[in-house]
Amino acid sequence: MHLERCNSGMSSVALLVSPLLLLLSLASAELQRVQHAPKEDGSLTVLAVGDWGRGGQYNQTLVAEQMGVIGEKLNADFIISTGDNFYNDGLSGDNDTAFFKASFTEIYTAESLQKPWYIVLGNHDYTGDALAQQSPAIREVDSRWISVNKSFIVESEIVEFFLVDTSPFVLKYWNESKFDWRNVAPRDTYIANLLKDLEDALTESKATWKIVVGHHPISSGCEHGNTTELREHLLPVLKAHGVHMYLNGHDHCLQRISSIDR
Ligand SMILES: *[C@@H]1O[C@H](CO)[C@@H](O)[C@H](O)[C@H]1NC(C)=O
Ligand SMILES: *[C@@H]1O[C@H](CO)[C@@H](O)[C@H](O)[C@H]1NC(C)=O
Ligand SMILES: *[C@@H]1O[C@H](CO)[C@@H](O)[C@H](O)[C@H]1NC(C)=O
Ligand SMILES: *[C@@H]1O[C@H](CO)[C@@H](O)[C@H](O)[C@H]1NC(C)=O
Ligand SMILES: *[C@@H]1O[C@H](CO)[C@@H](O)[C@H](O)[C@H]1NC(C)=O
Repeated sequence: MHLERCNSGMSSVALLVSPLLLLLSLASAELQRVQHAPKEDGSLTVLAVGDWGRGGQYNQTLVAEQMGVIGEKLNADFIISTGDNFYNDGLSGDNDTAFFKASFTEIYTAESLQKPWYIVLGNHDYTGDALAQQSPAIREVDSRWISVNKSFIVESEIVEFFLVDTSPFVLKYWNESKFDWRNVAPRDTYIANLLKDLEDALTESKATWKIVVGHHPISSGCEHGNTTELREHLLPVLKAHGVHMYLNGHDHCLQRISSIDR
């Protein structure tokens, strides 16, 4: 996507408050922020990719080569990953550097992709060691990898990207034993805090463009379908705060970008 300063022409929308937030008044922290300066003319070009880490298999290498070509043509400033970064079960630990290199460092080798990669996690990352991808040990292997927390903000003057950890919302995962919920459980507290932090950050934001990034779709006509938990808890927040775009992965059918229907 290519972003420039302009009048978005969006009308304001009545403030909706998530019912969950009315019930729980909880202490929460501010979302961490990473700054990324736009180009000199104030514009910004970003590539996004999701559902990818296969040790080069499943045509990952071919897609990576084309990303490199497009990244050069468009002069991409950075890359966003919408999660499911390592299949099938994430990284096994922050010492799982061989698979990290084989699926990332040795795959995205094009010059145009030697930029920061801002990362969210998908459900496949959660069935491994879900803390490994934020570990400084992984960042040391490849400094492009920026996953300062499971949710955080990338600020770039005209645009703010709000990276949101969506896996904990999905109820059926909590019935499966292999999800790594360390630092997440209990679910209700985690998502209430996250939504509160997101609302605070969206309220404060003066960016021309507000883009929320998560792994799971809010609406999808593909195999996985709508994520009802996100429709219930996240969508009202996006609508209430004039978010312009929600960017996701998870369903592998090229329906990666949803505009926020008002
Ligand atoms: C890779 O892509 C080719 C078409 O270019 C396809 O025939 C093949 O099945 C793909 N391989 C995998 C493992 O998906
Ligand atoms: C990572 O460390 C753990 C615990 O020390 C060990 O069991 C595992 O085999 C190590 N994994 C790799 C890929 O080195
Ligand atoms: C990461 O985010 C969580 C939830 O927003 C927060 O509780 C935690 O303090 C953050 N970690 C750091 C190191 O800031
Ligand atoms: C989780 O498991 C419980 C108990 O077996 C069941 O009642 C519930 O419907 C399951 N929830 C989901 C979302 O799968
Ligand atoms: C998914 O959400 C859309 C609204 O975006 C709705 O029209 C559709 O009926 C929903 N699909 C299902 C299967 O509930």
